[in-house]
Amino acid sequence: NETFETLAREIADLKRERKAVILAHYYQRPEVQDVADFVGDSLQLSRQAAGTDAEVVVFCGVHFMAESAAILSPEKTVLLPEAEAGCPMAEMVDAESLRLRKRSLPGSKVVCYVNSSADVKAECDVCCTSSNAAKVVESLGTSPVLFVPDKNLGLYVSEKLGKPMDLWPGFCLTHDRLASSDITEARRAHPRAKVIVHPECREEVWRLADYVGSTAGLIRYAQTTEAEEFIVGTESGILHQLQSTCPDKKFYLASDKLVCRNMKATTLVKVRDALRNLSPRITVAEETRLKAKAALDRMLELG
Ligand code: 13P
Ligand code: SF4
Repeated sequence: NETFETLAREIADLKRERKAVILAHYYQRPEVQDVADFVGDSLQLSRQAAGTDAEVVVFCGVHFMAESAAILSPEKTVLLPEAEAGCPMAEMVDAESLRLRKRSLPGSKVVCYVNSSADVKAECDVCCTSSNAAKVVESLGTSPVLFVPDKNLGLYVSEKLGKPMDLWPGFCLTHDRLASSDITEARRAHPRAKVIVHPECREEVWRLADYVGSTAGLIRYAQTTEAEEFIVGTESGILHQLQSTCPDKKFYLASDKLVCRNMKATTLVKVRDALRNLSPRITVAEETRLKAKAALDRMLELG
């Protein structure tokens, strides 16, 4: 029954005591985004995690994000307030199946979307997020590429660069709920609106969009384009930032099914308890960490 206000005050006090920083993804609950020191997309959050001088990082997101923070900053205490908040897409690839696939593709470079476990990252040449995927693939020149695990982002990048790639058959359960018929109906209801979607959407959906980009990309597009109405094809949490940074514009979620249960599992009570108990803590075994870090570092070095 504690109010958001009381909890936010408790969190601020504990944060000072613990020398902690709170990072939150754009898909988090509005009240969680509001207590964060930094809200961003996956790439911005990994840069923050790598660069912060805080002793404790509270990661309000899903498991792979906190794990990336632990890979990049092993000396910090990285907390995931809801230990069960995983990413179903990340679970669609495991290290053993990837090793098998690599054996059948000798000479291919493996590009791994950060939505993957540390064990999988450790098997890859370089990581990417949705905001730098094309740049990362381009940096590999003419090498053949196996892209894991998101087939939708993989195909989007492949078309953008005109480079065929082997695609792992993974996808995001949340974005997969959005169909082209939702976009067509929304366009009919809001004929002046621009359709902005995340590349994790199905191919039939991103083909219909006016703009495709990472969460930060979608927010930047809404801020800088002259349009005043937008049909939004990504997780509902992004509406909080869209509305607060563009108060005079209108945003319509393309479907009310765009809710990621895992992203919504983090609450203010859990953030407070994590700071209080310094738990649940995310760590990565050193051998895996070093290999996964090499793949993340290669991505971060691309700027
Ligand atoms: P970005 O914030 O990098 O666009 O990632 C989207 C996502 O699905 C994270 O789980
Ligand atoms: Fe994973 Fe999709 Fe949820 Fe992001 S929105 S955490 S990709 S299931």
